[in-house]
Amino acid sequence: YTAQIDANDIEKGTYPHFMLKEIDEQPFVMRKIIREYQTENNELKLDQNIRQAMNSCDRIYIIAAGTSYHAGLVGKEFIEKLANVPVEVHIASEFSYNMPLLSEKPLFIFISQSGETADSRAVLVKIKEMGHPALTITNVPGSTLSREADYTLNLYAGPEIAVASTKAYTAQIAVLAILAVDTAKTKGLPLDFDPMQELAIVANAMEVLTDQKEAIEDLARKYLHTARNAFFIGRSVDYHVCLEAALKLKEISYIQAEGFAGGELKHGTIALIEEGTPVIALATQENVNYSIRGNVQEVVARGANDMVISMKGLERDTDAFVIPHVHELLTPLASVVPLQLLSYYAALHRDCDVDKPRNLAKSVTVE
Ligand code: G6P
Repeated sequence: YTAQIDANDIEKGTYPHFMLKEIDEQPFVMRKIIREYQTENNELKLDQNIRQAMNSCDRIYIIAAGTSYHAGLVGKEFIEKLANVPVEVHIASEFSYNMPLLSEKPLFIFISQSGETADSRAVLVKIKEMGHPALTITNVPGSTLSREADYTLNLYAGPEIAVASTKAYTAQIAVLAILAVDTAKTKGLPLDFDPMQELAIVANAMEVLTDQKEAIEDLARKYLHTARNAFFIGRSVDYHVCLEAALKLKEISYIQAEGFAGGELKHGTIALIEEGTPVIALATQENVNYSIRGNVQEVVARGANDMVISMKGLERDTDAFVIPHVHELLTPLASVVPLQLLSYYAALHRDCDVDKPRNLAKSVTVE
């Protein structure tokens, strides 16, 4: 049995593409997640067994592919910083054939929009044979990964039809933040923010961002219309978002795009920068704002066409786009939105099939 949704049953409404519709749905998905993971008394609502599993493990192994892997990289930040549990994030297809040394009491977290990805399932089968506990975070509760794991957390993003994942990515990050905060609370660790309140702020920020389509379309036209390649640079959590932004652009516009850690650029990749090469930099983190600006200067000096996307409070006059202020840990939820739209418009202007890019499938059920 495989949970299946027929794309024909889902309406695009007035939208030209599912991808655009799904980008726009993100504020509603955030609010749905807030409702679903909250009790009437505004306490976090989570299965006691999941709490127990999160509390009794000594290390978490996040296993995923593609966009879900990128969400896992952000999730590691939450779990380590808030809940104080070490986390490793692994690409499923690598983990299967080259397993690292495991800790004494590992907990596996599978992140998968579809819950059907064969690479992830291969790892799940292996680690269940070894007797380790598994939690699946998925958009499809009846899916294979959900049924075969011990526990499931639902993303509540609603069916995602476009091959390029958007609302599932932000839903995964939001649910991982809730899981991390819940674990911190159960452990009695100090916490100086209310996750639901901060996610509500994120939802509003997303709405502000999805209302700026014209500005982003202009940026896509200006920077990416004839581009052969593009680079995304960022430091710290911005780096993780850059990996996702580059994947999004590659998938649907076929522009060769790569995400790099700002500081690593000079160790090789900077050789690729030529006159007019688009370099999109993210600056949402105060502690690395100065250093990422330095990296932008390095590429500008070599002729790059720079576009800085920063967060309110950290912006400079020359920045191309400023996202509203959200909690520093949750910036990926906001900063990814203009990047999703940028990919969308780049693909649209280049006459690509946005919802069904060549060579790609929504759910890859072969290893
Ligand atoms: C496919 C899709 C990607 C997706 C990846 C993982 O390659 O094209 O968009 O990120 O699978 O999918 P999952 O359903 O496991 O999140």
